[in-house]
Amino acid sequence: MSRRHWKRYTAIGVLALLVVAVIAWSLALPGRGEPRITAAPMQPMLFPKGFLWGVAIAGQQAESLPASDWTKFEAEVFRDHRFAQGEHIGATPAGNIHGFGRWSEQVRTHKAGFDVLYEEDIDAAAHLGLNAFRVSIEWARLFPRPGMTEPDPEAIAYYHKVFAAMKSRGIEPIVTLFHYVSPAWFFDADAHGKRGWERADALTLWQAYVDAVANNFVPDVRIWCTLNEPNVYLYDAYVLGTYPPGEKRGDFAGARDVYAALLRAHAQAYRTLHRVAASRGATVSVGLTQNMQIFEPYHRYSPLDRTLVWVVDKVWNWDFLDAVASGRMKLTTTDIDIPIEGLAGTEDYVGVNYYSRNYVRGDWRHPLDPDVGTVAPDLPDEERNDLGWPSYPHGFYETLTKVGKRYAKPVMILENGTADSADDDKLRQRYLVAHIREAWLAQRDGVDIRSYVHWSLMDNFEWNEGFDARFGLFAVDYEHDFHRTARPSAALYGEIVHANGLSTTVLKRYSEAAGATAGTSGR
Ligand code: BGC
Repeated sequence: MSRRHWKRYTAIGVLALLVVAVIAWSLALPGRGEPRITAAPMQPMLFPKGFLWGVAIAGQQAESLPASDWTKFEAEVFRDHRFAQGEHIGATPAGNIHGFGRWSEQVRTHKAGFDVLYEEDIDAAAHLGLNAFRVSIEWARLFPRPGMTEPDPEAIAYYHKVFAAMKSRGIEPIVTLFHYVSPAWFFDADAHGKRGWERADALTLWQAYVDAVANNFVPDVRIWCTLNEPNVYLYDAYVLGTYPPGEKRGDFAGARDVYAALLRAHAQAYRTLHRVAASRGATVSVGLTQNMQIFEPYHRYSPLDRTLVWVVDKVWNWDFLDAVASGRMKLTTTDIDIPIEGLAGTEDYVGVNYYSRNYVRGDWRHPLDPDVGTVAPDLPDEERNDLGWPSYPHGFYETLTKVGKRYAKPVMILENGTADSADDDKLRQRYLVAHIREAWLAQRDGVDIRSYVHWSLMDNFEWNEGFDARFGLFAVDYEHDFHRTARPSAALYGEIVHANGLSTTVLKRYSEAAGATAGTSGR
Protein backbone atom coordinates (compact mmCIF):
# COMPACT_ATOMS: atom_id res chain seq x y z
CA MET A 1 0.00 0.00 0.00
CA SER A 2 1.37 3.40 -0.92
CA ARG A 3 2.14 5.93 1.80
CA ARG A 4 -0.62 8.21 0.52
CA HIS A 5 -3.19 5.43 0.83
CA TRP A 6 -1.98 4.50 4.25
CA LYS A 7 -2.45 8.08 5.41
CA ARG A 8 -5.93 8.26 3.96
CA TYR A 9 -7.03 5.00 5.68
CA THR A 10 -5.66 6.21 9.01
CA ALA A 11 -7.60 9.47 8.69
CA ILE A 12 -10.82 7.60 7.83
CA GLY A 13 -10.22 5.24 10.76
CA VAL A 14 -9.71 8.11 13.22
CA LEU A 15 -12.82 9.85 11.93
CA ALA A 16 -14.88 6.66 12.25
CA LEU A 17 -13.62 6.15 15.79
CA LEU A 18 -14.57 9.74 16.65
CA VAL A 19 -18.07 9.28 15.24
CA VAL A 20 -18.50 6.04 17.21
CA ALA A 21 -17.22 7.78 20.36
CA VAL A 22 -19.68 10.67 19.95
CA ILE A 23 -22.59 8.26 19.30
CA ALA A 24 -21.62 6.13 22.31
CA TRP A 25 -21.33 9.27 24.43
CA SER A 26 -24.73 10.59 23.42
CA LEU A 27 -26.36 7.18 23.94
CA ALA A 28 -24.90 7.10 27.44
CA LEU A 29 -26.42 10.51 28.29
CA PRO A 30 -29.09 10.45 30.97
CA GLY A 31 -32.63 11.08 29.79
CA ARG A 32 -34.25 14.45 30.31
CA GLY A 33 -37.75 15.26 31.41
CA GLU A 34 -39.39 13.33 34.20
CA PRO A 35 -38.65 13.22 37.01
CA ARG A 36 -38.06 16.92 37.53
CA ILE A 37 -37.63 16.55 41.25
CA THR A 38 -35.15 14.83 43.54
CA ALA A 39 -36.25 11.41 44.78
CA ALA A 40 -36.83 11.06 48.50
CA PRO A 41 -39.11 9.08 50.80
CA MET A 42 -42.16 10.92 52.05
CA GLN A 43 -41.45 12.34 55.49
CA PRO A 44 -41.97 15.66 57.27
CA MET A 45 -39.36 18.08 55.94
CA LEU A 46 -38.79 20.52 58.76
CA PHE A 47 -36.05 23.13 58.91
CA PRO A 48 -33.77 23.89 61.87
CA LYS A 49 -34.97 26.25 64.59
CA GLY A 50 -34.27 29.89 63.73
CA PHE A 51 -34.51 29.26 59.98
CA LEU A 52 -35.47 32.48 58.23
CA TRP A 53 -38.67 32.50 56.21
CA GLY A 54 -39.18 35.64 54.22
CA VAL A 55 -40.39 37.51 51.20
CA ALA A 56 -38.46 39.93 49.00
CA ILE A 57 -39.16 43.15 47.17
CA ALA A 58 -36.92 45.91 45.78
CA GLY A 59 -37.31 49.69 45.83
CA GLN A 60 -37.70 50.44 42.13
CA GLN A 61 -40.19 47.60 41.74
CA ALA A 62 -42.41 48.33 44.70
CA GLU A 63 -42.11 52.01 45.70
CA SER A 64 -42.11 55.50 44.25
CA LEU A 65 -38.58 56.83 43.86
CA PRO A 66 -36.90 60.14 43.18
CA ALA A 67 -34.97 60.29 39.91
CA SER A 68 -33.07 57.07 39.39
CA ASP A 69 -31.56 55.75 36.17
CA TRP A 70 -34.58 53.45 35.93
CA THR A 71 -37.17 56.16 36.64
CA LYS A 72 -35.58 58.17 33.84
CA PHE A 73 -35.65 55.16 31.50
CA GLU A 74 -39.33 54.55 32.35
CA ALA A 75 -40.20 58.18 31.56
CA GLU A 76 -38.46 57.90 28.18
CA VAL A 77 -40.21 54.63 27.38
CA PHE A 78 -43.55 56.24 28.18
CA ARG A 79 -42.79 59.39 26.17
CA ASP A 80 -41.72 57.35 23.14
CA HIS A 81 -44.49 54.74 23.40
CA ARG A 82 -42.04 51.84 23.60
CA PHE A 83 -44.53 49.34 25.03
CA ALA A 84 -43.60 46.28 22.95
CA GLN A 85 -47.12 46.14 21.52
CA GLY A 86 -48.01 42.73 20.23
CA GLU A 87 -45.22 40.96 22.06
CA HIS A 88 -45.95 38.41 24.73
CA ILE A 89 -44.46 38.91 28.17
CA GLY A 90 -41.08 37.34 28.66
CA ALA A 91 -39.86 38.40 25.23
CA THR A 92 -39.86 42.17 25.51
CA PRO A 93 -37.33 43.76 23.17
CA ALA A 94 -34.58 46.05 24.46
CA GLY A 95 -35.69 49.63 25.03
CA ASN A 96 -39.28 48.62 25.88
CA ILE A 97 -41.42 47.97 28.92
CA HIS A 98 -44.24 45.58 28.14
CA GLY A 99 -47.66 47.24 28.26
CA PHE A 100 -46.33 50.23 30.23
CA GLY A 101 -48.60 52.69 28.44
CA ARG A 102 -51.76 51.03 29.76
CA TRP A 103 -51.17 52.16 33.31
CA SER A 104 -52.05 55.44 34.98
CA GLU A 105 -49.32 57.83 36.05
CA GLN A 106 -50.07 56.90 39.64
CA VAL A 107 -49.32 53.24 38.95
CA ARG A 108 -46.30 53.98 36.77
CA THR A 109 -44.70 56.06 39.48
CA HIS A 110 -45.87 54.28 42.65
CA LYS A 111 -45.33 50.73 41.43
CA ALA A 112 -46.85 48.53 44.15
CA GLY A 113 -47.15 51.44 46.61
CA PHE A 114 -45.08 49.80 49.35
CA ASP A 115 -43.82 53.16 50.65
CA VAL A 116 -47.43 54.11 51.41
CA LEU A 117 -48.77 50.69 52.40
CA TYR A 118 -45.75 49.21 54.17
CA GLU A 119 -47.50 48.82 57.54
CA GLU A 120 -50.21 46.78 55.85
CA ASP A 121 -47.69 44.73 53.86
CA ILE A 122 -45.51 44.01 56.86
CA ASP A 123 -48.64 43.06 58.79
CA ALA A 124 -49.55 40.61 56.04
CA ALA A 125 -46.06 39.11 56.21
CA ALA A 126 -46.35 38.81 59.99
CA HIS A 127 -49.71 37.04 59.63
CA LEU A 128 -48.06 34.47 57.42
CA GLY A 129 -45.64 33.89 60.31
CA LEU A 130 -42.62 35.26 58.43
CA ASN A 131 -39.53 36.26 60.38
CA ALA A 132 -37.61 37.91 57.52
CA PHE A 133 -38.37 40.55 54.89
CA ARG A 134 -35.92 41.53 52.17
CA VAL A 135 -36.07 45.13 50.93
CA SER A 136 -33.57 47.53 49.40
CA ILE A 137 -32.32 50.87 50.66
CA GLU A 138 -32.27 52.96 47.52
CA TRP A 139 -29.21 55.06 46.76
CA ALA A 140 -31.43 57.39 44.69
CA ARG A 141 -33.72 57.99 47.67
CA LEU A 142 -30.83 58.79 50.01
CA PHE A 143 -28.89 60.92 47.50
CA PRO A 144 -31.41 62.16 44.92
CA ARG A 145 -29.30 65.14 43.83
CA PRO A 146 -25.67 65.30 42.68
CA GLY A 147 -23.14 66.77 45.09
CA MET A 148 -25.11 65.95 48.26
CA THR A 149 -22.72 65.28 51.13
CA GLU A 150 -25.38 64.09 53.58
CA PRO A 151 -28.31 61.77 52.87
CA ASP A 152 -31.83 63.13 52.70
CA PRO A 153 -33.13 63.04 56.32
CA GLU A 154 -36.64 62.15 55.15
CA ALA A 155 -35.29 59.09 53.37
CA ILE A 156 -33.41 58.00 56.48
CA ALA A 157 -36.58 58.51 58.55
CA TYR A 158 -38.61 56.46 56.05
CA TYR A 159 -36.33 53.43 56.25
CA HIS A 160 -36.17 53.70 60.06
CA LYS A 161 -39.97 53.48 60.10
CA VAL A 162 -39.96 50.47 57.79
CA PHE A 163 -37.39 48.58 59.88
CA ALA A 164 -39.16 49.52 63.11
CA ALA A 165 -42.43 48.17 61.67
CA MET A 166 -40.66 44.90 60.89
CA LYS A 167 -38.91 44.63 64.25
CA SER A 168 -42.10 45.28 66.20
CA ARG A 169 -43.61 42.25 64.44
CA GLY A 170 -40.61 39.99 65.02
CA ILE A 171 -39.42 40.31 61.43
CA GLU A 172 -35.73 40.58 60.60
CA PRO A 173 -34.93 42.95 57.73
CA ILE A 174 -32.55 41.69 55.04
CA VAL A 175 -31.32 44.73 53.17
CA THR A 176 -29.96 45.02 49.63
CA LEU A 177 -27.77 48.01 48.72
CA PHE A 178 -27.74 47.76 44.92
CA HIS A 179 -30.72 46.14 43.23
CA TYR A 180 -29.81 47.27 39.67
CA VAL A 181 -30.67 50.92 40.38
CA SER A 182 -28.65 54.07 41.04
CA PRO A 183 -29.42 57.80 41.18
CA ALA A 184 -30.00 59.29 37.72
CA TRP A 185 -27.09 61.74 38.22
CA PHE A 186 -24.67 58.78 38.61
CA PHE A 187 -24.98 58.41 34.85
CA ASP A 188 -23.97 62.00 34.09
CA ALA A 189 -20.66 61.91 32.22
CA ASP A 190 -17.48 62.71 34.16
CA ALA A 191 -14.55 64.73 32.74
CA HIS A 192 -13.50 61.69 30.66
CA GLY A 193 -16.99 61.05 29.33
CA LYS A 194 -17.47 58.01 31.61
CA ARG A 195 -20.82 57.24 33.21
CA GLY A 196 -22.16 55.14 36.04
CA TRP A 197 -19.78 52.53 37.41
CA GLU A 198 -17.14 53.61 34.91
CA ARG A 199 -16.86 57.17 36.26
CA ALA A 200 -13.46 57.86 37.81
CA ASP A 201 -15.20 58.79 41.08
CA ALA A 202 -17.80 55.98 41.04
CA LEU A 203 -16.45 54.18 44.07
CA THR A 204 -16.04 57.41 46.08
CA LEU A 205 -19.67 58.25 45.39
CA TRP A 206 -20.73 54.71 46.30
CA GLN A 207 -18.68 54.93 49.50
CA ALA A 208 -20.58 58.05 50.59
CA TYR A 209 -23.84 56.13 50.17
CA VAL A 210 -22.53 53.05 51.97
CA ASP A 211 -21.20 55.18 54.85
CA ALA A 212 -24.60 56.83 55.21
CA VAL A 213 -26.32 53.45 55.24
CA ALA A 214 -23.90 51.89 57.72
CA ASN A 215 -23.91 54.89 60.07
CA ASN A 216 -27.69 55.07 60.15
CA PHE A 217 -28.78 51.43 60.08
CA VAL A 218 -26.08 49.25 61.66
CA PRO A 219 -26.85 47.38 63.84
CA ASP A 220 -30.64 47.82 63.44
CA VAL A 221 -30.16 45.83 60.28
CA ARG A 222 -28.01 42.76 60.78
CA ILE A 223 -28.21 40.98 57.42
CA TRP A 224 -26.91 42.79 54.36
CA CYS A 225 -26.85 41.94 50.69
CA THR A 226 -24.46 44.31 48.90
CA LEU A 227 -25.38 43.50 45.30
CA ASN A 228 -28.42 41.84 43.79
CA GLU A 229 -27.53 39.58 40.86
CA PRO A 230 -24.49 41.38 39.45
CA ASN A 231 -24.61 38.92 36.51
CA VAL A 232 -28.13 40.04 35.54
CA TYR A 233 -27.18 43.71 35.89
CA LEU A 234 -24.06 43.32 33.73
CA TYR A 235 -25.89 41.27 31.13
CA ASP A 236 -29.08 43.28 30.89
CA ALA A 237 -27.49 46.73 31.15
CA TYR A 238 -24.31 46.14 29.09
CA VAL A 239 -24.85 43.09 26.85
CA LEU A 240 -28.56 42.84 26.02
CA GLY A 241 -29.21 46.53 26.55
CA THR A 242 -32.60 45.99 28.18
CA TYR A 243 -31.78 47.81 31.44
CA PRO A 244 -30.36 51.32 31.56
CA PRO A 245 -27.86 52.44 30.30
CA GLY A 246 -29.06 50.08 27.53
CA GLU A 247 -25.68 49.25 26.00
CA LYS A 248 -24.84 46.30 23.79
CA ARG A 249 -21.17 45.58 24.26
CA GLY A 250 -21.20 41.99 23.06
CA ASP A 251 -20.11 40.22 26.25
CA PHE A 252 -18.99 40.68 29.85
CA ALA A 253 -15.44 41.46 28.69
CA GLY A 254 -16.86 44.55 26.98
CA ALA A 255 -18.07 45.69 30.40
CA ARG A 256 -14.94 44.64 32.29
CA ASP A 257 -14.61 48.00 34.08
CA VAL A 258 -18.20 47.79 35.31
CA TYR A 259 -17.54 44.20 36.42
CA ALA A 260 -14.42 45.24 38.34
CA ALA A 261 -16.18 48.25 39.87
CA LEU A 262 -19.02 46.06 41.16
CA LEU A 263 -16.51 43.69 42.77
CA ARG A 264 -14.73 46.64 44.40
CA ALA A 265 -18.07 48.16 45.46
CA HIS A 266 -18.99 44.88 47.11
CA ALA A 267 -15.67 44.64 48.97
CA GLN A 268 -15.93 48.27 50.15
CA ALA A 269 -19.46 47.74 51.44
CA TYR A 270 -18.47 44.49 53.15
CA ARG A 271 -15.64 46.21 55.03
CA THR A 272 -17.61 49.34 55.89
CA LEU A 273 -20.59 47.45 57.32
CA HIS A 274 -18.27 45.25 59.39
CA ARG A 275 -16.16 48.20 60.58
CA VAL A 276 -19.18 50.18 61.74
CA ALA A 277 -20.70 47.12 63.39
CA ALA A 278 -17.46 46.34 65.26
CA SER A 279 -17.18 49.95 66.44
CA ARG A 280 -20.68 49.55 67.91
CA GLY A 281 -20.00 46.19 69.51
CA ALA A 282 -22.37 44.47 67.07
CA THR A 283 -22.05 41.83 64.39
CA VAL A 284 -23.44 41.81 60.89
CA SER A 285 -23.71 39.21 58.18
CA VAL A 286 -22.79 40.50 54.72
CA GLY A 287 -22.86 38.84 51.31
CA LEU A 288 -24.24 39.28 47.83
CA THR A 289 -26.78 37.29 45.89
CA GLN A 290 -26.33 35.78 42.46
CA ASN A 291 -28.89 34.78 39.84
CA MET A 292 -28.24 31.04 39.46
CA GLN A 293 -29.63 29.14 36.49
CA ILE A 294 -29.47 25.59 35.30
CA PHE A 295 -28.11 25.27 31.75
CA GLU A 296 -28.61 22.19 29.63
CA PRO A 297 -27.77 21.37 26.00
CA TYR A 298 -30.55 22.15 23.55
CA HIS A 299 -29.65 18.96 21.67
CA ARG A 300 -28.46 16.49 24.27
CA TYR A 301 -26.33 14.68 21.69
CA SER A 302 -24.55 17.76 20.36
CA PRO A 303 -20.93 18.05 21.52
CA LEU A 304 -21.04 21.77 20.73
CA ASP A 305 -24.16 22.36 22.85
CA ARG A 306 -22.64 20.36 25.69
CA THR A 307 -19.35 22.25 25.57
CA LEU A 308 -21.18 25.56 25.47
CA VAL A 309 -23.22 24.55 28.52
CA TRP A 310 -19.98 24.32 30.45
CA VAL A 311 -18.89 27.76 29.24
CA VAL A 312 -22.23 29.48 29.82
CA ASP A 313 -22.60 27.93 33.27
CA LYS A 314 -19.14 29.12 34.25
CA VAL A 315 -19.61 32.63 32.88
CA TRP A 316 -23.12 33.11 34.26
CA ASN A 317 -23.17 31.27 37.56
CA TRP A 318 -19.62 31.14 38.86
CA ASP A 319 -17.18 33.76 37.57
CA PHE A 320 -18.43 36.59 39.82
CA LEU A 321 -18.83 34.38 42.90
CA ASP A 322 -15.41 32.81 42.31
CA ALA A 323 -13.88 36.28 42.13
CA VAL A 324 -15.30 37.18 45.53
CA ALA A 325 -13.97 33.94 46.99
CA SER A 326 -10.51 34.15 45.41
CA GLY A 327 -9.94 37.90 45.09
CA ARG A 328 -9.20 37.60 41.35
CA MET A 329 -11.51 38.68 38.57
CA LYS A 330 -11.00 35.98 35.95
CA LEU A 331 -13.40 36.05 33.04
CA THR A 332 -13.88 32.66 31.37
CA THR A 333 -12.94 32.54 27.65
CA THR A 334 -10.94 35.75 27.97
CA ASP A 335 -7.43 36.53 29.20
CA ILE A 336 -8.80 38.91 31.81
CA ASP A 337 -7.34 38.00 35.18
CA ILE A 338 -7.08 40.94 37.54
CA PRO A 339 -6.37 40.82 41.27
CA ILE A 340 -8.83 42.97 43.22
CA GLU A 341 -7.33 44.27 46.43
CA GLY A 342 -9.23 43.45 49.58
CA LEU A 343 -11.82 41.31 47.81
CA ALA A 344 -10.87 37.72 48.69
CA GLY A 345 -13.30 36.12 51.12
CA THR A 346 -15.52 39.18 51.61
CA GLU A 347 -18.70 37.20 52.19
CA ASP A 348 -20.27 35.74 55.28
CA TYR A 349 -22.79 33.82 53.21
CA VAL A 350 -23.46 33.13 49.55
CA GLY A 351 -26.83 34.36 48.31
CA VAL A 352 -28.77 32.28 45.79
CA ASN A 353 -31.65 33.50 43.64
CA TYR A 354 -33.07 30.57 41.67
CA TYR A 355 -35.97 30.47 39.24
CA SER A 356 -35.54 28.19 36.25
CA ARG A 357 -33.49 26.35 33.64
CA ASN A 358 -32.34 27.22 30.13
CA TYR A 359 -31.23 25.38 27.01
CA VAL A 360 -28.02 26.26 25.24
CA ARG A 361 -27.81 25.86 21.49
CA GLY A 362 -24.62 26.29 19.49
CA ASP A 363 -24.08 27.03 15.84
CA TRP A 364 -20.82 25.81 14.26
CA ARG A 365 -20.70 28.92 12.08
CA HIS A 366 -20.28 31.14 15.17
CA PRO A 367 -19.56 28.68 17.96
CA LEU A 368 -18.84 31.29 20.61
CA ASP A 369 -22.24 32.91 20.28
CA PRO A 370 -24.74 30.41 21.68
CA ASP A 371 -28.45 30.88 21.75
CA VAL A 372 -29.87 30.48 25.27
CA GLY A 373 -33.60 29.82 25.42
CA THR A 374 -36.33 28.32 27.55
CA VAL A 375 -37.71 25.63 25.25
CA ALA A 376 -36.06 22.25 24.64
CA PRO A 377 -37.03 20.25 21.52
CA ASP A 378 -37.55 17.05 23.51
CA LEU A 379 -39.66 18.77 26.22
CA PRO A 380 -42.30 20.70 24.29
CA ASP A 381 -44.87 20.41 27.07
CA GLU A 382 -42.66 21.29 29.99
CA GLU A 383 -44.49 23.29 32.65
CA ARG A 384 -43.69 26.98 32.13
CA ASN A 385 -44.76 30.16 33.89
CA ASP A 386 -46.33 33.28 32.37
CA LEU A 387 -42.89 34.43 31.20
CA GLY A 388 -42.17 31.10 29.53
CA TRP A 389 -39.69 30.01 32.21
CA PRO A 390 -39.72 26.24 32.84
CA SER A 391 -40.32 25.07 36.41
CA TYR A 392 -37.39 22.84 37.26
CA PRO A 393 -37.31 22.10 41.00
CA HIS A 394 -34.49 19.55 40.85
CA GLY A 395 -32.23 22.32 39.53
CA PHE A 396 -32.66 24.10 42.87
CA TYR A 397 -31.17 21.10 44.67
CA GLU A 398 -28.34 20.92 42.13
CA THR A 399 -27.58 24.61 42.49
CA LEU A 400 -27.68 24.66 46.28
CA THR A 401 -25.47 21.60 46.64
CA LYS A 402 -22.95 22.95 44.13
CA VAL A 403 -22.79 26.32 45.91
CA GLY A 404 -22.47 24.59 49.28
CA LYS A 405 -19.55 22.44 48.09
CA ARG A 406 -17.75 25.10 46.12
CA TYR A 407 -17.63 27.79 48.80
CA ALA A 408 -18.19 25.96 52.10
CA LYS A 409 -20.12 28.95 53.45
CA PRO A 410 -23.64 29.38 54.76
CA VAL A 411 -26.11 29.80 51.93
CA MET A 412 -29.03 32.20 51.95
CA ILE A 413 -31.82 31.65 49.48
CA LEU A 414 -32.76 35.26 48.80
CA GLU A 415 -35.16 34.77 45.89
CA ASN A 416 -37.29 31.98 44.48
CA GLY A 417 -40.73 32.29 42.95
CA THR A 418 -42.73 32.32 39.76
CA ALA A 419 -45.02 34.48 37.63
CA ASP A 420 -48.54 33.07 37.65
CA SER A 421 -51.46 35.38 36.99
CA ALA A 422 -54.10 32.63 36.81
CA ASP A 423 -56.89 33.06 39.36
CA ASP A 424 -56.43 29.62 40.84
CA ASP A 425 -52.70 30.26 41.33
CA LYS A 426 -52.07 26.52 41.04
CA LEU A 427 -48.69 26.80 39.33
CA ARG A 428 -47.31 28.97 42.12
CA GLN A 429 -48.54 26.53 44.77
CA ARG A 430 -46.89 23.56 43.08
CA TYR A 431 -43.74 25.58 42.51
CA LEU A 432 -43.57 26.67 46.14
CA VAL A 433 -43.92 23.19 47.62
CA ALA A 434 -41.61 21.52 45.11
CA HIS A 435 -38.85 24.11 45.55
CA ILE A 436 -38.98 24.22 49.35
CA ARG A 437 -38.77 20.44 49.25
CA GLU A 438 -35.58 20.62 47.15
CA ALA A 439 -34.10 23.19 49.55
CA TRP A 440 -34.81 20.85 52.45
CA LEU A 441 -33.14 17.95 50.64
CA ALA A 442 -30.08 20.11 49.93
CA GLN A 443 -29.75 21.01 53.61
CA ARG A 444 -30.31 17.38 54.58
CA ASP A 445 -27.38 16.60 52.29
CA GLY A 446 -25.10 19.00 54.09
CA VAL A 447 -25.69 22.51 52.75
CA ASP A 448 -25.90 25.07 55.55
CA ILE A 449 -29.00 26.91 54.31
CA ARG A 450 -30.12 29.78 56.54
CA SER A 451 -33.12 31.24 54.73
CA TYR A 452 -35.85 30.79 52.16
CA VAL A 453 -37.02 34.14 50.83
CA HIS A 454 -39.88 34.11 48.33
CA TRP A 455 -40.12 36.54 45.43
CA SER A 456 -42.47 38.22 46.06
CA LEU A 457 -44.93 39.26 48.75
CA MET A 458 -47.13 41.11 46.26
CA ASP A 459 -47.27 41.75 42.53
CA ASN A 460 -44.91 44.53 41.53
CA PHE A 461 -43.09 46.16 38.64
CA GLU A 462 -41.18 43.47 36.76
CA TRP A 463 -38.57 45.60 34.92
CA ASN A 464 -39.01 45.17 31.14
CA GLU A 465 -42.13 43.04 31.66
CA GLY A 466 -43.89 45.88 33.44
CA PHE A 467 -46.95 45.10 35.57
CA ASP A 468 -48.16 42.02 33.69
CA ALA A 469 -45.79 39.48 35.26
CA ARG A 470 -47.45 38.59 38.55
CA PHE A 471 -45.00 37.24 41.10
CA GLY A 472 -47.06 38.01 44.23
CA LEU A 473 -48.38 35.80 46.96
CA PHE A 474 -50.82 38.72 47.11
CA ALA A 475 -52.45 40.10 43.98
CA VAL A 476 -52.32 43.88 43.58
CA ASP A 477 -55.34 45.60 42.08
CA TYR A 478 -53.61 48.45 40.30
CA GLU A 479 -56.92 49.97 39.20
CA HIS A 480 -58.25 50.23 42.74
CA ASP A 481 -55.73 51.90 45.00
CA PHE A 482 -53.28 49.02 44.93
CA HIS A 483 -55.65 46.86 46.94
CA ARG A 484 -54.03 43.56 47.95
CA THR A 485 -55.83 40.21 47.81
CA ALA A 486 -54.23 37.03 49.10
CA ARG A 487 -53.81 34.34 46.47
CA PRO A 488 -54.22 30.76 47.71
CA SER A 489 -50.42 30.40 47.73
CA ALA A 490 -50.22 33.01 50.52
CA ALA A 491 -52.16 30.73 52.88
CA LEU A 492 -50.10 27.78 51.71
CA TYR A 493 -46.83 29.61 52.42
CA GLY A 494 -48.23 30.59 55.83
CA GLU A 495 -49.01 26.95 56.54
CA ILE A 496 -45.46 25.95 55.58
CA VAL A 497 -43.89 28.71 57.64
CA HIS A 498 -45.99 27.96 60.72
CA ALA A 499 -44.87 24.31 60.50
CA ASN A 500 -41.25 25.43 59.85
CA GLY A 501 -41.24 23.26 56.75
CA LEU A 502 -43.31 20.77 54.82
CA SER A 503 -45.65 18.61 56.85
CA THR A 504 -46.78 15.28 55.38
CA THR A 505 -50.23 16.83 55.06
CA VAL A 506 -48.90 19.48 52.70
CA LEU A 507 -46.69 16.99 50.86
CA LYS A 508 -49.65 14.69 50.33
CA ARG A 509 -51.86 17.53 49.18
CA TYR A 510 -49.26 18.48 46.56
CA SER A 511 -48.14 14.92 45.93
CA GLU A 512 -47.79 15.40 42.20
CA ALA A 513 -45.53 18.42 42.58
CA ALA A 514 -43.64 17.08 45.56
CA GLY A 515 -43.16 13.47 44.53
CA ALA A 516 -44.84 12.08 47.60
CA THR A 517 -46.34 9.27 45.55
CA ALA A 518 -44.72 5.94 44.84
CA GLY A 519 -44.07 6.79 41.19
CA THR A 520 -41.11 9.07 41.92
CA SER A 521 -37.82 7.50 41.02
CA GLY A 522 -35.72 10.66 40.93
CA ARG A 523 -32.27 11.00 39.46
C1 BGC B 1 -34.60 39.96 40.37
C2 BGC B 1 -35.93 40.58 40.69
C3 BGC B 1 -36.96 40.14 39.68
C4 BGC B 1 -37.11 38.62 39.77
C5 BGC B 1 -38.13 38.02 38.83
C6 BGC B 1 -34.69 38.51 39.97
O1 BGC B 1 -33.81 38.26 38.92
O2 BGC B 1 -33.72 40.13 41.45
O3 BGC B 1 -35.77 41.97 40.72
O4 BGC B 1 -38.18 40.74 39.86
O5 BGC B 1 -35.87 38.05 39.45
O6 BGC B 1 -37.75 38.21 37.51
